[in-house]
Amino acid sequence: MSAVPPAGMVLPDVWYVACRSKTLRAAPLAVTIQGRPLVVFRGAGGAPAAFTDRCPHRNVPLSMGTVVGGELQCRYHGWRFDAAGQCTAVPGLVDGEVSLRSRCAEAFACVEQQGFVWVYSTPNQAPTHPPFSFPHLGEAPYSSVVREFHVEASVHAVVENTLDVPHTAYLHGGLFRTAQKSNVIDVVVRRHGTFAEAEFIGEPAPRGLVGRLLAPGGGVTEHTDRFLLPSIAQVEYRLGATSHLLATSALTPVTDTETRVFAVVTFKLPVPAWLVKPFVAPIATSIFAQDAVMLRRQTAQLQRFGGARYTSTELDVLGPQVTRLLKQAAAGEAPPEGVHEHRLRMKT
Ligand code: FES
Ligand SMILES: [Fe+2]
Repeated sequence: MSAVPPAGMVLPDVWYVACRSKTLRAAPLAVTIQGRPLVVFRGAGGAPAAFTDRCPHRNVPLSMGTVVGGELQCRYHGWRFDAAGQCTAVPGLVDGEVSLRSRCAEAFACVEQQGFVWVYSTPNQAPTHPPFSFPHLGEAPYSSVVREFHVEASVHAVVENTLDVPHTAYLHGGLFRTAQKSNVIDVVVRRHGTFAEAEFIGEPAPRGLVGRLLAPGGGVTEHTDRFLLPSIAQVEYRLGATSHLLATSALTPVTDTETRVFAVVTFKLPVPAWLVKPFVAPIATSIFAQDAVMLRRQTAQLQRFGGARYTSTELDVLGPQVTRLLKQAAAGEAPPEGVHEHRLRMKT
């Protein structure tokens, strides 16, 4: 099996984040998801709606238009479309049916929840399931920090990077792991039809800045890294009953080489949130900036050398599992029953 999913892969019947709620205002917004240009706008009552960003009349971008009375009006000849994509006005047309099927905009199901606008990946299709819900977001006693990033890399590369332990001591030296590897820990890897996770057992509290915030008194953490289809990467740390941190990234594939990252860090800690919050965003941002540089270089190399030629060890815990899950989802295969599990040991 190839180490990475093939270029141009498209996942049907899944949800991706189009934008944060606060980004979508009165004007229509152009976004690209899985290589497909879309326009997102607020229709009647402010509910989000999404179309292919192409007017059925002369194909200009609908994102150049304006929202009038909850409908999207094309900038060129003023055709109007309701949230379902139905054409409701062809200015100047005296006789003839306005709302012909061929005059419809191609519409995508759209849902707004937890401060994000999600778009379904298959047009003109009723969703089979709701979008992902960020655990504990907005729930007392948890606090959250939300950030949005753009990375020049595939979703697969971003997921593998987010859930990869061995690079942290090198690329992020001092921030949360060091290069001296003194602890041998057990890793349990589980794969199910819709997720893959690695549980790290017996891991001491991370060192460095992150460790000091998470576990001021040290101790043993429960740490699980997780991928959920279609594109959620989640790192979870728990220390006793008092500390719980979830860093969840909802990734949106823009193209094969570009990904938008909607990162939500949700935590409860033994120290008050107001004390911690000022550190969380800058730390997360600087970790992210280091990763983004490396991912960009990795993508450039793949282009330079005409593709990936990876070699792996068992320390590359989740990358192959993620590839397998993505390929299954792209093929529309029914997920296999049950949970597949294996164990390995790692020095951290
Ligand atoms: S191109 Fe959109 S109305 Fe003519
Ligand atoms: Fe990293």
